[in-house]
Amino acid sequence: MSASEYKADRPPPRIAAPLLSWYRRHARRLPWRTPPGGGSADPYPVWLSEIMLQQTTVATVGPYFARVMERWPTVESLARAPREDVLSLWAGLGYYARARNMHRCAQIVSDELNGRFPDNESDLKALPGIGPYTAAAIAAIAFGRKATVVDGNVERVVARLCALEEPLPSVKPKLRELAAEMTPDETPGDYAQAMMDLGATVCLPRNPKCLLCPLEEVCMAHAAGIETRLPRKAPKAARPTRYAVAFYITRPDGALLLRRRPDQGMLGGMMEVPSTPWRETPWDEAEARAVAPVELDWRPLPGIVRHGFTHFHFEVTTWAGLHGGYGVRDDGRWVLPDALGDEALPTVMRKIIRHGLTADAGA
Ligand code: ADE
Ligand code: SF4
Repeated sequence: MSASEYKADRPPPRIAAPLLSWYRRHARRLPWRTPPGGGSADPYPVWLSEIMLQQTTVATVGPYFARVMERWPTVESLARAPREDVLSLWAGLGYYARARNMHRCAQIVSDELNGRFPDNESDLKALPGIGPYTAAAIAAIAFGRKATVVDGNVERVVARLCALEEPLPSVKPKLRELAAEMTPDETPGDYAQAMMDLGATVCLPRNPKCLLCPLEEVCMAHAAGIETRLPRKAPKAARPTRYAVAFYITRPDGALLLRRRPDQGMLGGMMEVPSTPWRETPWDEAEARAVAPVELDWRPLPGIVRHGFTHFHFEVTTWAGLHGGYGVRDDGRWVLPDALGDEALPTVMRKIIRHGLTADAGA
């Protein structure tokens, strides 16, 4: 039988026993993790790590997780933290709505739920920032509930184990169904993390290490020799480019003018270098001048700052201007270069500032 003949009425491979025994020997030691066989874990670090790990790698999250745990070791202390401090600590991690939702979630758990996280998927999902994936992960890892945790890694593993040739994203419901059928009743937390680890360390996107895989004998894609081609993906729409002109405004003492972004929308609540709106056509000089926050003798800096967001590329031209320092609007704030490290500045804004500082040094 060829692998492409996989039928949903055929039982998926039995994987729990070999996978769990592999996990006992090869589990990654991660700061938020209870070692294999350790049972349920403290919900606060589990929740925190799962929020931080949304869209972000284990390696990137590590130091941020450590800083949050050191500064706010309990959900109550995080709830009481000023929001500015939470956003500053998050700066550089991206997807800033996560930080705002994390803070609100901590406040709800602390103030309305007696400091206790709900112990099941549906109540967890009602909290800010907790979607189906995160709810399943917390329910399984922190509360030992049988729950199916499906992220991109798990989708890849399941598509290969069952040799599903239908492309993403339309195959997702089937992957979820098969993943649920494979989930065992026992040690759901270990099982969920074993699947994650297998996807992250063995069943790699380009070079799956099938010789080291505990599931090699039952894997249908491997049997058919098609594992590197799975999962198939429908072609993606090209990412559009958005353009802006950033106004790099300094005072004679070197302080830089920043402002806080509105709470709603991209990078909500974070600090920014003032700019034109972001739009899909480049700005000409007169247009940008018309929306500048102040009238200054602008000096366009050579070069372009580029940044990749999930749904678009961003290209920023920077104009530098020297300002007397008086009469700025309420949402503006002067920050000296030495103090920039404490600000809630997303990566794209740090790039613009580095560009401005470099050009200034050369001017
Ligand atoms: N990615 C998301 N959650 C994770 C976890 N608990 N362990 C490792 N990687 C993860
Ligand atoms: Fe992935 Fe290869 Fe293991 Fe199959 S045998 S699950 S393709 S690593």
